Amino acid sequence: MSYDVGGVLLERPFKIRRLGHFGFDNVAMAESLAFYTDLLGFRLSDVLSFNRVARDPKTIEGLGDTNGYMLRYGSDHHAFALFPRRVRQALSHRPSNPEVTTNQITFQVGSLREVVEGHDYFKGNDIEIQRAGRDPLGSNWHTYVYDPDDHVAELYYGIEQVGWDGQAKPEFKVSRPFFEVATLPQPSERDEIDEALKKGIVLSSGHRGLETLPSKYEVGGVMLPRPFKIVRIGPVRLFVKDMAKAEAFYRDRLGLIPTEEVVWQGQRCVFLRCNTEHHTVALYPIELRATLGLSAHTNCLSFGLQMGSYKQLKDAIAFLKANGQRIVELPPELRPGVDYAACVFDPDGHALELYYYMEQVGWDGRVRPAAQRRKIVSGTWPDTLEPMADTYMGEPFLGPLG
Ligand SMILES: [Fe+2]
Repeated sequence: MSYDVGGVLLERPFKIRRLGHFGFDNVAMAESLAFYTDLLGFRLSDVLSFNRVARDPKTIEGLGDTNGYMLRYGSDHHAFALFPRRVRQALSHRPSNPEVTTNQITFQVGSLREVVEGHDYFKGNDIEIQRAGRDPLGSNWHTYVYDPDDHVAELYYGIEQVGWDGQAKPEFKVSRPFFEVATLPQPSERDEIDEALKKGIVLSSGHRGLETLPSKYEVGGVMLPRPFKIVRIGPVRLFVKDMAKAEAFYRDRLGLIPTEEVVWQGQRCVFLRCNTEHHTVALYPIELRATLGLSAHTNCLSFGLQMGSYKQLKDAIAFLKANGQRIVELPPELRPGVDYAACVFDPDGHALELYYYMEQVGWDGRVRPAAQRRKIVSGTWPDTLEPMADTYMGEPFLGPLG
């Protein structure tokens, strides 16, 4: 069966273009919000109140912070979602794998049609759908499904772009939210904005995330509150119970392309990409979690945060250490295509993988032979590096660093 995707026949009715956003459900919410904003530099776009969403707010009383936080590093309304784990569990009507602490693993496709037809495709292939429609915050059109380990994966199109003034759209006043899959066609965002203006909505009345820390560090000639800048997100590394099932989902259903496999300590690990980066998603047998000494509360090995340069990566590690954070270098064999990297841990124990380089894969799908890759020795960080053919390549960061 082939599907017409913008005039090209593909195996499925959509083509994933990039990892768009990701999220964690955390318990230590105040500490986590400070960690992701003050330490890592994410900016708050909008706040989702579960008190407003819950049918009966009493069900979430006494569970701590009842807000979800939508955070960004660039112009996408959200690249990272920090949600309250206890509240989400209390509101869930579906028994779920308790080790799933990823809130969502979200992929951008090329059009609204791809999101909508993707929904029908998942339904027709017995993939469980969590929900479909359009986010009230971020106004992206979406289809959410479960992977074989219960992680929620999302296809989306058209996320709100936050501009120079840092202001999100006024909540619920410009975009029309949808709680079911959209019919086609829909009006453009521009027409919605014109409609809102006609109704007298003040476009500048949305939320604006404030930076509270002084700009003390020079980063590439610009003064910033921390000595680095996140310029891209991903890869997402997952521990899975059944490698064959997980591979089949990400390869056959989502259409990610297998790049490389690695056997480490007798365990086979698989790397898949959606664009030119070596991998966007990596799958590891759950048995490796204990071997690596990672938190048993989650089956997410790590979530990647790409720094703007090698110097920024080193400076980020020094900055985080100076701020009392634990830094761990995981075995380089588990991240082919990424050279220097280190993990920092959020207050719930999720690993964030900081790196600056990702091998780029071209039209023929061939990866760099292992012998031609940089030799990484954990704990050894040269002052400067010789370039690789694809250093600083791939999707660039748009706009000013801060
Ligand atoms: Fe999403």
